[in-house]
Amino acid sequence: MKASDLRKKYIQFFESKGHKAISSASLVPENDPTCLFTTAGMHPLVPYLLGEKHPSGTRICDYQKCVRTGDIDEVGDAVHLTFFEMLGNWSLGDYFKEEAIRFSFEFLTAPEWLNISLDNLAVSVFAGDDDAPFDEEAFNLWRELGVSEARIARLGKKDNWWGPAAQTGPCGPDSEMFFWTGDGDAPEVFDPENKLWVEIWNDVFMQYNKTAEGKFEPLTQQNVDTGMGVERVTAVLQGKKSCYETELFLPLFAKLDEIRDLASEDVERERCQEERIIVDHLRAAVFMMSDGVLPGNVDQGYVLRRLIRRAIRQGRKLGVETAFITKIAQVIIDEYKECYPSLDAQNKEIINELSTEEEAFARTIEKGTKEFEKLISRVPEHIKNKVVSGKNAFKLYDTYGFPLELTIEMAAERGFVVDEKGFKKAFEKHQELSRKGAENKFKGGLADDSEATTSLHTATHLLHQALRNVLGDHVAQKGSNITADRLRFDFSHPEKVTRDILNEIEAIVNDVIAKDMPITLEEMTVEDAKAAGAIGLFGDRYGEIVKVFSIGDFSKEICGGPHAESTGKLGRFKIKKEESSSRGVRRIKAVLIKE
Ligand code: ALA
Repeated sequence: MKASDLRKKYIQFFESKGHKAISSASLVPENDPTCLFTTAGMHPLVPYLLGEKHPSGTRICDYQKCVRTGDIDEVGDAVHLTFFEMLGNWSLGDYFKEEAIRFSFEFLTAPEWLNISLDNLAVSVFAGDDDAPFDEEAFNLWRELGVSEARIARLGKKDNWWGPAAQTGPCGPDSEMFFWTGDGDAPEVFDPENKLWVEIWNDVFMQYNKTAEGKFEPLTQQNVDTGMGVERVTAVLQGKKSCYETELFLPLFAKLDEIRDLASEDVERERCQEERIIVDHLRAAVFMMSDGVLPGNVDQGYVLRRLIRRAIRQGRKLGVETAFITKIAQVIIDEYKECYPSLDAQNKEIINELSTEEEAFARTIEKGTKEFEKLISRVPEHIKNKVVSGKNAFKLYDTYGFPLELTIEMAAERGFVVDEKGFKKAFEKHQELSRKGAENKFKGGLADDSEATTSLHTATHLLHQALRNVLGDHVAQKGSNITADRLRFDFSHPEKVTRDILNEIEAIVNDVIAKDMPITLEEMTVEDAKAAGAIGLFGDRYGEIVKVFSIGDFSKEICGGPHAESTGKLGRFKIKKEESSSRGVRRIKAVLIKE
């Protein structure tokens, strides 16, 4: 079965069970300061899992683009992908365990759906601990459906508990489904340690909300969250050992072969790490860019730049000396644009940006080589044990993107050795610092709906509209990040906004606040919202019902909420900072001062 059939069947099946299909949300979480990227299908649904009403109802299904980067420098093996798609179905306070498990069983085993034999399936359920009891209900349901007791593993929190996606939020016990990928019959007894059993689906029964204090409080609304990885399931259903062997990746490898003049080679051959990193990272990069991320030095832009550079470096390792990434990017766009129309809409911009980035990186490498020569020339000829220090090797890595192997190779040519231990030390120190940076991002909490955050969210809409009124309609939201203390808003604009103009914008926002305008919510289709003049992130949501928030007659914007009831009590709006975020994108940080 092809990935496109899997997506189609999944959506059809859940529609036949009363679910409404929604389209993938952006890879950049909207108004969520806790995560850089959407990491799971449930991520964009968090406010609804916490009880907010979803405009599409209480039964929802979709395929969602996700990015998990972890430590970028370690991805690229045969199993991990930085970009992947996740199929999911949700009950928002509607059905719970019994129906969820029955749906999963039917979709996996019924002849008209995936038609997997029960002989090749195993499951796991939560074994219980101090926070929550053994999931006897899930266990009994699987038994009743015909799964033998020996094929139901009882596992602890490490394996059978999911969430929260950030440090706080909805979570609960889960039940995972496994598919036998070994040759010959599957063993009678399910051993979760045996890697030939591959996890293909996860049903999470969200009954708890993990608080900032680490307590598990029962949720007022019980939800179901499920996730099935498209790439992995496509591979196992096709009997392939890795998702890189499926049609999702083969056209990309074919293009890479063509670039390397290997057109006559067998496309399906096992691929080396460099080849896998190139296609994986470029997939992630293309999808990030279709959601408005541009290469930069902070946050999403930083991750994107690292992915692109790493892909280019692997190309060099394979002997590709000319610009090549846009050729592969174009294949990715063509392969996916039907499922994700925003790729098509952004095609030109993505290719242009990638091309600029690749050229800029070539210049950086050139500069790095000069820096390397400088370092080398400082060491007198007669010294016997010539060493490039760990600190310098790390500087070449961090500032100029030189991988350690490249420095070692170049050093060896000149009779130097590299202090690899010292490099490792510098690298670890840097990782520690970036980890601390990442931890700081977790302040504020997911879906924080405190009054302060809500007020700043409303102020963000006012700022967005005021910017458009003053600077023009080219201003579009490129990112938003709100904590209880401040808002941060990224928007497209080619140049610095002067303090005079910022003052003007502040005055407009404060004027609307003074007028105490009411904030109203309507639900309508994306098309109607557009026709009504609403701004906001439309994404791929054609035909869907969305929420539109209006602030008096001043602003109308597509948004998930929540918002203040009126503008009167927001406080005084003050822009603290205006700076560049990435090329063509400015960033404003602002606060509300309660007087
Ligand atoms: N949210 C669950 C997962 O990502 C379904 O596995």
